[in-house]
Amino acid sequence: MHRIQRKGGELHVEGVSVEALADRYGTPLYVYSAGTILDHYRRLRGVLRALNPLICYSVKANSNLAILSLLARAGSGFDVVSGGELERVRKAGGKPAKCVYAGVGKTEEEIEAGLRAGVKAFHVESEEELHTIAMVAGRKRGRRAPVALRVNPDVAAGGHAKITTGTYANKFGIPFEQVAAIYRGASGDRRLHLRGIQMHIGSQITQAAPFRAAVRKMVPLVERLRDRHGLEYFDIGGGVGIVYQDALASGRDGWWKTPKAQRFLTLNEYALSLVSLLRNLKMQILLEPGRFLVGNAGMLVTEVLYRKRTGQKHFTVVDAGMNDLIRPTLYEAFHQIEPVGKPRPGAISTDVVGPVCESGDVFGHDRTLPPVERGDRLAILSAGAYGFSMASNYNTRPRPAEILVSGNRARVVRSRERAADLWRGERRS
Ligand code: LLP
Repeated sequence: MHRIQRKGGELHVEGVSVEALADRYGTPLYVYSAGTILDHYRRLRGVLRALNPLICYSVKANSNLAILSLLARAGSGFDVVSGGELERVRKAGGKPAKCVYAGVGKTEEEIEAGLRAGVKAFHVESEEELHTIAMVAGRKRGRRAPVALRVNPDVAAGGHAKITTGTYANKFGIPFEQVAAIYRGASGDRRLHLRGIQMHIGSQITQAAPFRAAVRKMVPLVERLRDRHGLEYFDIGGGVGIVYQDALASGRDGWWKTPKAQRFLTLNEYALSLVSLLRNLKMQILLEPGRFLVGNAGMLVTEVLYRKRTGQKHFTVVDAGMNDLIRPTLYEAFHQIEPVGKPRPGAISTDVVGPVCESGDVFGHDRTLPPVERGDRLAILSAGAYGFSMASNYNTRPRPAEILVSGNRARVVRSRERAADLWRGERRS
């Protein structure tokens, strides 16, 4: 988060004042730093250079066309999970040949679209799906569908029960023990091209151990399948966690700050734990980071509407709601909240809440903040990943505008929705 900092007391994204952006474009407003995203991309490639990996940015984290095209120009591939995401990538100038197509529930139409576009591979999550892909490919004579099985290695990882994916209690992937037989069964099928093998164990992982455990468990299987079926790549998924606490104060990139109580993975540790296990594999290595690339590159800017006190609590009502950023409500996720302007002296303890008609519409409980007044702006940090992409129109609230900052330049990369946009397609009875 080194490109998001205070200058003269006021919050800036790269060379641009956040207050000025809020004045000009209104709130709630998503603001992203292009330089931070590119830095994260290059640093990840840098620490893993011994593996020369193909980074396939996980589009679901933030699918704005401007961010996709920024990464496409940097050489990134993409991990997509729907026909819509694939179309977005193509619209942004991404190459389908660098796209892997994941998801437990691909429809036949989506499979057809992936085949037509020429994706690198489908990441297959069940035997039935594999049969369906073969069938769809069979309809197009001479088309072989590139596939990789998504293996569930049964390793627990991830910051929250709702985002762990790599155990047998989850719906994702094919159980480790079944994988070899399914490759064997598919190997004679002329409609399929067995191209790779994939795993993804969870999200917001802040320790090296789960990655190492899963990769170590996978490598012997991967080697065997490489030799038997000529697999070209091993995709180790995404999941690298970021720092949400103290994200700004670190003054560095934020993600690898070591908070007092908890020890976080460093980027070098992540690399070290993987490079030694993977460098002799003689296969292409793929990664699917989402949060790591964009999480700490973005913030949600909001304005204080009202303050009030009950017998028990002080509330700060802001103009952003859970529909704009659902992570605190859905996962009890912590996002640092900071005044955008120069912080006033003193401190208050307050619940920062949105205007949506739900008790769960809370960005932070009992937060210690400098005193704020009506009209002040607050920045909800680390909102670049799974922020806008999970936003909804609940309460008929138009979604915020999105701004991408690069150096001293700020560009609207998505206009604020208008109410009329929200009932487009509806009919009066
Ligand atoms: N690859 C696959 C197959 C995935 O399912 C995901 C995320 C990723 C890669 C990227 O994971 P990342 O590097 O971003 O951790 N909405 C939740 C996170 C859900 C993650 C879903 N899958 C949140 O806001 O924390």
